[in-house]
Amino acid sequence: MCGIVGYVGSKKAAPIIVEGLRKLEYRGYDSAGIAIHDGNGIEIVRALGKLARLSELLEKRTLEGTTGIGHTRWATHGRPSEVNAHPHSSGVVALVHNGIIENYVALRQELEKEGVKFSSDTDTEVMAHLVHRELTRGAKPLFKAVQRALGHVHGAYAIAVASREEPDVVVVARYGSPLVLGVCEGESLCGSDIPALLAHTRDMIFLEDGDVAELRATGIRIETVTGEEVQRKVRRIDWSPVMAERGGYKHFMLKEIHEQPDVVEATLRGRVDLVNGDVHATEIGVSPELAREIRRVYITACGTSHHAGIAGRYWIEQLARVPTVVELASEVRYRDPIFYPDDLVIAISQSGETADTIAALKAAKAQGAKVLALCNVVDSAIPRASDGALYTHAGPEIGVASTKCFTTQLAALLMLAVYLGRRRGTLDEGRARETLQALWEIPNQMRDVLGDADYVHAIAKKMTHAKDVLFLGRGLGFPIALEGALKLKEISYAHAEGYAAGEMKHGPIALIDETLPVVVICPRDAHFDKTVSNLEEVRAREGQVIAIATKGDEQILEKSQYQVWLPKVRDEVLPLLTVLPLQLIAYYVAHLKGNDVDQPRNLAKTVTVE
Ligand code: F6R
Repeated sequence: MCGIVGYVGSKKAAPIIVEGLRKLEYRGYDSAGIAIHDGNGIEIVRALGKLARLSELLEKRTLEGTTGIGHTRWATHGRPSEVNAHPHSSGVVALVHNGIIENYVALRQELEKEGVKFSSDTDTEVMAHLVHRELTRGAKPLFKAVQRALGHVHGAYAIAVASREEPDVVVVARYGSPLVLGVCEGESLCGSDIPALLAHTRDMIFLEDGDVAELRATGIRIETVTGEEVQRKVRRIDWSPVMAERGGYKHFMLKEIHEQPDVVEATLRGRVDLVNGDVHATEIGVSPELAREIRRVYITACGTSHHAGIAGRYWIEQLARVPTVVELASEVRYRDPIFYPDDLVIAISQSGETADTIAALKAAKAQGAKVLALCNVVDSAIPRASDGALYTHAGPEIGVASTKCFTTQLAALLMLAVYLGRRRGTLDEGRARETLQALWEIPNQMRDVLGDADYVHAIAKKMTHAKDVLFLGRGLGFPIALEGALKLKEISYAHAEGYAAGEMKHGPIALIDETLPVVVICPRDAHFDKTVSNLEEVRAREGQVIAIATKGDEQILEKSQYQVWLPKVRDEVLPLLTVLPLQLIAYYVAHLKGNDVDQPRNLAKTVTVE
């Protein structure tokens, strides 16, 4: 939520910052702004709407300065408008912020009593005034003023601050919201996420909560809010700048859908041991001893990652025979959950920054449970707060609707289930090898399924005007039904429901008539006969059945109006294929409706608010 970028160096800062913001636009896109120091003063330009609006305004201006900060916004406090757009300023200070200041009402009242006039409805503006107040009280330089100001603030923030009095400095700080620093020769950068910096450097520092950093062309200095000097490791990122480009595809989402075979391969590479029917322990994040000792697995996540978690439960229970629960992280934190020291909590998050998931894992750790992060972004907040990490290697995902991160989460969870099963003696070498072999073959089968995209496009055309769509699946098809419905909702704005096929008769069956498209996930798996009975129930009420089925299935051909055929694979690996046509349906329906696929309304990719 919200993206921030900062630059200090010898090049013109404005184009670098706008380009960085473009890479972060998936984090928020209701307004954008930039503040550039040209050596004499700070010029601020802000625009309501997408970054393109800001770019248009900037074409008419010449901002020459080589120091600056920028922001792309996802509104929390204060509706999207130019006055609420960042940067916010106070006296000599300009500031951008990602996060939420929880005590902003009290701070605003305090500042207003002191005579401060506010010009926006945002929580952020209080921070600009606080920094300015510290400067006027004599806390100098800007670095010290920011440290002092943050002493008054409760909540989550990543901020970047510039001052008219210090033309060669940007001060940044983080607590609870991500901030990455780019380390380069003769320039320093900051950004909310890696893609913003990739065009300049792959050497990055991930700030930790409570860090404040001073960025200069000559280097970076970091202290804690309370003034202790700290050293943070510079990490070399193995993502390349082209990974964050569209590469000939119309949308990032379509590119990312088609990248899935390659990234699933990357998730498996070097980890799967087909000779011994096992998974190498080194990169799994769970030691063999812990794998043997755990009595329960507790998976927690939000949204799409939660759906991956449901598939994970099926696999872990089936292959490793450990009781497993899956809980929405946004609910865990508002109950009084019970964790045990012999629980393995798996926090799944592609971004590694989701506030609810962080809070859930902290609750688990506080009660002594061991936490494994299943994450795409190396060294992000969730892996940092966990006991171990299993990384998915999906590369940057820019489309707001998650696709490749989901399938790599699935691959990682199945691998983890095999690993646990082998350590616990519940899975023999033969079955483990067959499962891993099937997983290993999945990327090629994904390529085949994605090769049929035109056919899915034709089906999507028939669904373009549907107001409601039902997705049904059983067993491992259930989380995929949930995911198919979520994808469609997110980008096509149609109402969609994912349901366990067996639950349909307990309520949603009332929705079915000849206008309702029902997507039934019914490959030839162990639940096939039961799922087909549900499909019959839909047919009997004239629902339009779109079947996701196994190639050559005559029965399905006869019973459904439209079919997407998948190769026959082992049951365990089916979700990695069944989800692909659902992602494509969502993509095509949204595109045919003329929606903004990569930046759907109201959404943001990294949800750092509760
Ligand atoms: C949907 C989607 C979201 C995220 C959710 C959690 O396409 O991407 O539902 O899955 O916001 O985000 P992470 O996985 O970053 O914790």
